[in-house]
Amino acid sequence: MGKIREIPLAALKLNEFIKNKVKEIAEEVKDGIAINALSGGVDSSVVTLLGFKALGGQLKTYFIDTGLMRHQEPQYVVSIFKSLGVPVELINAKKQFFNALKGIEDPEKKRNAVTHVFYKEVFGDLVKKSGAKYLLQGTNYTDVEETVAGIKRQHNILTQLGIDTKKAYGYHVIEPVIELRKTAIRKVGRALGLPKELYGRPPFPGPALSARVIGEVTPQRVEIVRKATRIVEEELGKTSAFQYLAILHQDRVTGMRNGKRDFGLQIEVRCWDSKDAREGTPTRLPFDTLLKLGDRITGEVPGVVSVTYNITRKPPSTIEAI
Ligand code: XMP
Repeated sequence: MGKIREIPLAALKLNEFIKNKVKEIAEEVKDGIAINALSGGVDSSVVTLLGFKALGGQLKTYFIDTGLMRHQEPQYVVSIFKSLGVPVELINAKKQFFNALKGIEDPEKKRNAVTHVFYKEVFGDLVKKSGAKYLLQGTNYTDVEETVAGIKRQHNILTQLGIDTKKAYGYHVIEPVIELRKTAIRKVGRALGLPKELYGRPPFPGPALSARVIGEVTPQRVEIVRKATRIVEEELGKTSAFQYLAILHQDRVTGMRNGKRDFGLQIEVRCWDSKDAREGTPTRLPFDTLLKLGDRITGEVPGVVSVTYNITRKPPSTIEAI
């Protein structure tokens, strides 16, 4: 890990990079089986295409439906890859994730629970079943940097959990985009024929909507934040903001509906201007846009009586709530 060197954007030769990575993957896996998990984010999408180019049918790609994804995200991502000729198997792991998250309110414990279920339970099983000896993973250079700096646990969580993957599961990890940052990975995606709707997507956190639920993550509470997220993405997708999100709060506030008191839910909207997520400033959204968000979220998401807009910079805020 420590020896990874960044390939800066200016030094990236797209065709050469793709050719070399495809060759490296093919040479490492030889006639074995490799697996990878596709999340629909740009990193895992690019890794899927590189892996498929190198290995064809020797690569088994899974989309793990954690129950924490955005509205119709699993079907959407699988269908895009189908149209690119890449088969992806959808694995329903909702029960396992919600069981692991039951009763947990602490942010770090929540993240740990998601990580644990993903790598140890769901992925561990898939590795065993498929007979794979290789795992392709979309770790990028920023992940390495943040891990080394101790800022937060990212994709390379296996190493961070102290897991020697070869020893624990019998598989090697291959990380084809580890020398690149996001902007460079988006360029590789475009060159590989990934549609713009995928290579141009705003970032989305690994723990998905569980990073946007304050307090316990239950199917019902995720459904509320999912509905609010859909509205925020519809309204703010037209802006050039770096990232925009909805957060479900734990505290209730007094509101009124149909002339009666309604002690209801609060949604917080965040919308960020940022270059690389390391620092951020709230986007100066037009007030009419904010009002429309308030009207739509209180009108369309059951139980919500209050919508707020976050006006904090990062730091001291972070982009996500958890
Ligand atoms: P924070 O909340 O730390 O987020 O300011 C910085 C950027 O990283 C994304 N994020 C994650 N991405 N796995 C990821 O792949 C994660 O666990 C994770 N947590 C946060 C976040 O959306 C923002 O773009």
